[in-house]
Amino acid sequence: MSEPIRNDSAGIKQCCANMYGSDAAKYLLGESFHPGGLRLTEELASLLSLSPTSVVLDVASGKGTTALFLAEQFGCRVTGIDLSEQNFLDASVAAAARGLSRLVEFRLADAEALPFDAASFDAILCECAFCTFPSKQTAASEFERVLKPGGRIGISDITKDGTSLPSLEGLLAWIACIGDAQPLQSYAEWLSATGLHIIHAEPRSHCLQEMVQGIRSKLLMAEIMIGLKKLHLPGLDLSQAKAFSKAAQEAIASNHLGYGIVVAAKDKAK
Ligand SMILES: C[S@@+](CC[C@H](N)C(=O)[O-])C[C@H]1O[C@@H](n2cnc3c(N)ncnc32)[C@H](O)[C@@H]1O
Repeated sequence: MSEPIRNDSAGIKQCCANMYGSDAAKYLLGESFHPGGLRLTEELASLLSLSPTSVVLDVASGKGTTALFLAEQFGCRVTGIDLSEQNFLDASVAAAARGLSRLVEFRLADAEALPFDAASFDAILCECAFCTFPSKQTAASEFERVLKPGGRIGISDITKDGTSLPSLEGLLAWIACIGDAQPLQSYAEWLSATGLHIIHAEPRSHCLQEMVQGIRSKLLMAEIMIGLKKLHLPGLDLSQAKAFSKAAQEAIASNHLGYGIVVAAKDKAK
């Protein structure tokens, strides 16, 4: 398992944060930026055994959709961190608008350098973002450090087998969570290398298939609306996005690309 050989990891991270803070991302993905949406979040949350006394960290919290959902559904306290300033601001406004500021707070922070003391959280979620972190081992170690003994971590992420997919490479691929996606087993290995125990690892590739189908429909709609000058999505290269989503759909159909969940636990004695 090798870390990506990149000397511009700060640039990649910022590019990713900017893209996910953009209007184009919101148009194409809606409020929940991961395959499976809140349905899969609920499944992951139940594997984390959340309760009203849980203190939860949502790493790379995007627009805050998951954090707000968890607070409403389970009554737990949630902190969301994200590297995108726009997402941090939007999420904070959403928390206030839904009257959840007492239970949910958002912070601008990097998953590879979490601004929290050791053993601060009962549970950690990271949805569709781990694969974009240039140093996955650093992020996994940070997760383990801030997790309380007996706590659990749940990751859902894009998975990719070892097949070379030239049409799904480059910066766009990285930002779309595909460029450095790994087999499910590798995500489990990064977590277990920190001393965590894997208690669950399962594919959920149909969630990615549905999401890519949805994106392709929205791209067609965007093409019409932009042509009619009724929609403006700065920074979105429509033909590149269409070719990319088509290649992704083919890779999913041939099982080279997928989605999965991994849940790990920290020893009570640690
Ligand atoms: C695909 S979106 C997923 C967002 C959210 N988890 C969801 O499911 O709606 C990826 C998110 O990761 C954030 N991100 C990327 N790199 C990050 C990093 N190093 N630290 C924190 N957030 C990061 C992006 O800003 C973006 O909001």
